[in-house]
Amino acid sequence: MPWDPIQLNDGHVIPSIAFGTWTLGNGQGSIDQIEQAISVGFDHVDTAQMYRNEEEAGKAVQESGLARKDIFITTKYSGLNGLDIETSIQNSLKNLGVEYVDLYLIHHPRLAQPNIPTAWAKMEAIKRAGLAKSIGVSNFGVDDLEVLLASAKIKPAANQILLHPYVYARQAPLLAYAASQGIVSEAYSSLIPITHQPGGPVDKPVNEIAQRLNATADQVLLAWVKAKGAVAVTTSSKKFRLEGYLRAADLQLTPADIAAIDLAGRA
Ligand SMILES: NC(=O)c1ccc[n+]([C@@H]2O[C@H](COP(=O)([O-])OP(=O)(O)OC[C@H]3O[C@@H](n4cnc5c(N)ncnc54)[C@H](OP(=O)(O)O)[C@@H]3O)[C@@H](O)[C@H]2O)c1
Repeated sequence: MPWDPIQLNDGHVIPSIAFGTWTLGNGQGSIDQIEQAISVGFDHVDTAQMYRNEEEAGKAVQESGLARKDIFITTKYSGLNGLDIETSIQNSLKNLGVEYVDLYLIHHPRLAQPNIPTAWAKMEAIKRAGLAKSIGVSNFGVDDLEVLLASAKIKPAANQILLHPYVYARQAPLLAYAASQGIVSEAYSSLIPITHQPGGPVDKPVNEIAQRLNATADQVLLAWVKAKGAVAVTTSSKKFRLEGYLRAADLQLTPADIAAIDLAGRA
């Protein structure tokens, strides 16, 4: 697959594009959509306690017939029902029907209770127990990472963050800091310029690049994420779009293309 796996700091690798389940809801429809994503070639499912569809994700993975080692499952501690991290991982494993997850994330720094060092020590225990191959965080800023790293025995493997051209200038120092610490950044909601802010300044360069490369705007934005060295965490209900997302890794964005998108995002 052209989305090459990325090396994590703990010896494992992560597929560099994920199918996210946040907006899928529950039930058979959700299972069908995850199965569709796996059937077109996605091998990374990104779910969370809070999305309330870990069970659906687990069913879809089982029904895909893929061996456990051939699918990468991320889930997150979201503080659902006030449960602690130790109980939550057990519930997530049960919901997913697996013995381990590939990546377990603290969904947001405010969920790191009573404080980041204590919560992170619990995550480290989960990794040591083999319940998660890798551990990481989400929505952590530089300050949060600094607090975590000051006491960490195991570095977070990944930080999943909001990343699209309109927030790039704000997030660039965080990307640089994470990279300097060997932490892989994962990008979510990267298609916001299309889905929530159409008509903005990013449209012009994205559409021009898309036209030149015979691609779609969503593909250009995902290729931009790849160029930033981040894992793309995206989703679609449509098979043709999912196939397009996977092909987006082949788009050859030039440094000038990337600079034009960055500049438009700052406007
Ligand atoms: N860690 C966190 O706090 C956090 C927060 C948010 C999200 N996430 C993760 O990231 C995943 C993706 O988040 P997201 O849904 O915000 O991602 P996104 O990748 O920005 O948007 C995906 C949506 O874009 C639509 N889309 C794609 N191409 C389009 C086009 N050309 N025209 C119109 N619409 C288009 C798709 O709709 P169609 O179905 O119509 O194709 C799909 O619903 C989530 O499922 C979750 O796993 C994590």
